[in-house]
Amino acid sequence: MGNHKNKHSVVVKFLLHLHPKKVDENAVKYSRTFGLGGISALLFVILATTGMMLRFSYVPVIDRAYESILDLQTYYIFGLLLRNIHYWSANLMVVVVFLHVLRVFYSQSIYFERRKNWLCGLVLLFLVLSFNFTGYLLPWDQLSFWAVTIMTEILSYIPLIGTYLSVILRGGEQVGQSTLMNFYVLHTGLLPLLMIVFMIFHFWLVRKAKGVTTSQPERTKLVNVSSHLVRKEIIAALAIGALVMLLSLFFDAPLKDMANSLVSSNPSKAPWYFMGLQEFLMHIHPSFVAFVLPVMVLSLLIYISYQTSESINVGVWFNSKSGKKQMIKSAISSFLFTLILIFVTEYLLNFRGWFSSMPLIVSTGLIPFLLYLIPAVGYFWFLSRGKKSNKPELLMSIVTIIIVSYIVMMSIGIWFRGESMKLIF
Ligand code: HEM
Repeated sequence: MGNHKNKHSVVVKFLLHLHPKKVDENAVKYSRTFGLGGISALLFVILATTGMMLRFSYVPVIDRAYESILDLQTYYIFGLLLRNIHYWSANLMVVVVFLHVLRVFYSQSIYFERRKNWLCGLVLLFLVLSFNFTGYLLPWDQLSFWAVTIMTEILSYIPLIGTYLSVILRGGEQVGQSTLMNFYVLHTGLLPLLMIVFMIFHFWLVRKAKGVTTSQPERTKLVNVSSHLVRKEIIAALAIGALVMLLSLFFDAPLKDMANSLVSSNPSKAPWYFMGLQEFLMHIHPSFVAFVLPVMVLSLLIYISYQTSESINVGVWFNSKSGKKQMIKSAISSFLFTLILIFVTEYLLNFRGWFSSMPLIVSTGLIPFLLYLIPAVGYFWFLSRGKKSNKPELLMSIVTIIIVSYIVMMSIGIWFRGESMKLIF
């Protein structure tokens, strides 16, 4: 009996590390977090469990890797299902983590005592994408081989260290055995370890900031965590489990022909979440895709969280009602503008031809970049002068424009690029 009580209290103690006993009634409303952080954590647990099982059959050697996946699917009981669950959870995780980022960002939950957690979150985002990307190569089929070839090629355009980085990651000049080993070790060793460390830090910081944000500055009624929050978490976990199971039962993870370094697949596409980058590459110099823009976007995301303006309304969606309207307008403008620019730069403008006497980085980099920047700056000038938006809202607009633009490019890349990456309708 004493033993049982002791065991029980360990579980309770663990839960109390994740949750306090009582929580603010407004903080447990489903529309506050949509459970997205918790669902990301659950997906990670599913991935870690299925990943460990997959390790029993997978062989990280280029002549055997593809075959070992085929064996898993054909001879192992529930082998195909296991691979499908891992595949679908991984893809869902990218989507869910992205939605979680949108939720914390647009609900103004990244400022003051939450800044550190936003920065920790950016590391987690990098880890989630690296996890996905390293796993992508492991089946060693045409799809994965060429996707990794493209992505590591893009990496080599980072000034000064790019080629070096690409060679380190590939473990040589070409994607081959050393690349597979590097990716396998990262995917099943280092990344899980880093992920667990940063996730624990992330949860601890949520508790340290006294829970998630609410739109009420003062705490209202406190309710019991077990009957309110934990119940909702169990429902969300069951729903997500059911979704993963349904996807895995009805849609198999892709597996093309075995990788062949001599015959490239046509079209060769990056993983779907990086397709925005590949689409962007079709319009602008690779240095901008690999370096200039990522550095600018990352700096912006870090810079925003350092705002201490009095007009920040922590916990309030889009900062205010007018902020919300402004985000909708920014999203629509960005959607139309990006579409137009894709078509114009695809069919009408030939920067390379017109400015052929200039270095490529100017003719296909700087000039198209300015072409995008000038109207964007004009738009912000209009917002800040004409509409009197405050600074947090203005910064939020910039991020909205970037996000929508990326989603448009990603969608074009995934669905509207056919053979030789030509636009198809
Ligand atoms: C493995 C990935 C991640 C997991 C498991 C995770 C988990 C969580 C959980 C459980 C919460 C509290 C509940 C909720 O807000 O849903 C939370 C809050 C938060 N997360 Fe994440 N998260 C992840 C990735 C990220 C990323 C990529 C970012 C940002 C770049 C981020 C930023 C934040 C912030 C700022 C909060 C505090 C929100 C508030 O106080 O209202 N997280 N996270």
